[in-house]
Amino acid sequence: MSSTPDTPCALVIFGATGNLSSLKLLPALFHLEQAGRLPEHLSIIAFSRRDWNNSDWRAHLSEILHQRIGEDFTEAAAEHFFSRFTYVQGEFQDPAAYARLLEALARPAMGTCSNVVFYLAIKPTEYPAVIRNLEESGLNEPRGLHRIVVEKPFGEDIESAQVLNQLLHRCFNEEQIFRIDHYQGKETVQNLLVFRFANTLIEPLWNRNFIDHVQITVAEDIGIGGRADYYDRAGALRDMLQNHMMQLLTLVAMEPPPALEPDALRDEKVKVLRSIRPIPRKAVHAHAFRAQYAAGSVHDQSVLGYSQEAGVEKGSTTETFVAAKFYIDNWRWRGVPFYLRTGKRLKEQQSMIALRLRHPPQQLFRETPLETLEPNWIILSIQPQESMHMEIHVKQPGLDMDTRLLQLHAGFRAMNERVLDAYEALLLDVIEGDRTLFIRFDEVEWAWRVVDPILKFWAQEREFIHTYAAGTWGPQEANRLFDSEDQEWRNSL
Ligand code: BG6
Repeated sequence: MSSTPDTPCALVIFGATGNLSSLKLLPALFHLEQAGRLPEHLSIIAFSRRDWNNSDWRAHLSEILHQRIGEDFTEAAAEHFFSRFTYVQGEFQDPAAYARLLEALARPAMGTCSNVVFYLAIKPTEYPAVIRNLEESGLNEPRGLHRIVVEKPFGEDIESAQVLNQLLHRCFNEEQIFRIDHYQGKETVQNLLVFRFANTLIEPLWNRNFIDHVQITVAEDIGIGGRADYYDRAGALRDMLQNHMMQLLTLVAMEPPPALEPDALRDEKVKVLRSIRPIPRKAVHAHAFRAQYAAGSVHDQSVLGYSQEAGVEKGSTTETFVAAKFYIDNWRWRGVPFYLRTGKRLKEQQSMIALRLRHPPQQLFRETPLETLEPNWIILSIQPQESMHMEIHVKQPGLDMDTRLLQLHAGFRAMNERVLDAYEALLLDVIEGDRTLFIRFDEVEWAWRVVDPILKFWAQEREFIHTYAAGTWGPQEANRLFDSEDQEWRNSL
């Protein structure tokens, strides 16, 4: 699609009635509409299996927006938004469905719509059928600026990622392929670059001389939300760690790029991934830990265990919690452990990057009550709070040499500033053709290389998995990853 607001263009959403569309894409598009950021002549084609017509689709869309947008949504205000949509029914494998799609794109209402974005909001196992059919029906041919958006996980291991990439390249050029990782669209994630590289205060501390270890946590209180058919095959390592969390790790660890250009940024991220020390087979237990939630209570509500969720295979040992430790063998980070942890049905939603600083080298306070000072922390909270914290010691007022830990806390957002959903930023980038925040294939490939030894090892140990009660911070056994006794998971800000 062109970046000019008045060029006719179309967005085709495959899987328009699915989970991702309902939760993220449609509300994000509506917010962009409200903000006046959608191109004037943008048409949207909702492509799905359900045997519906345009008015069924409209009723569905209206219900979704009512649920997701709440009070800000009214039918009257959404009239223009509704008018952008056409519904096309079809099975992803059926060539006739693509003929209908071609027809819909050729309708006069679409203008001379030569710029089309195909958004694959479907299960990864369905990608090949859609890509092949786009090719066979000639829909991939760039009459204007056709693009394809592919969600993560990109493949389910390194080999399948390479096969998928080859298939995509048979039909599309690299410039047409947008591999999306929605964590790149989160403002706090983008803020990481500004925090690190726009503040002289931070950079001198950001290395092995001052940082004891780094923790990256993405804790969710939600379960798998009806996605068992996808999740039971994927598990937390493929669903979160190989992509979202590896991206966070690269942004924390990378060197400053020479310019804020898409490839300059990606080159630095790839260097980090390539510097991660490979995990030998015999060390997988020391580097990675997995577990599955059992029944429990989250925010005082009883919830089922993973194995009781609808659609989960009996006896499944798919992990819903993963913790892993990586070392980055470069001058900046050699010897500093990076602990990554993510899980579903944990005590609360909390995503953050926490860096613990080293103890001061000089034991100045040895003879005072301060003998064991707590170390300093720098914490970047990604969600639900979007903020930065630093913990430092100050002397407690009074006659004795006592300290208190002072929390310097700064929220990134003023009260009246709306929280943008990551998909709003990324959809707009796709529409405008800006690839900066999208993932290059070598990033995907190197991230698979990092986690591959863990995946392979776990694939052979399918009989047993540790469990944790829903509503806790995960199993105690995950602590075995720590390098030293004074390290522990940081759960709150
Ligand atoms: C998705 C995963 O990519 O990210 C989900 O498939 C997960 O399982 C979600 O819940 C988390 O995203 P966010 O933006 O809510 O942190």
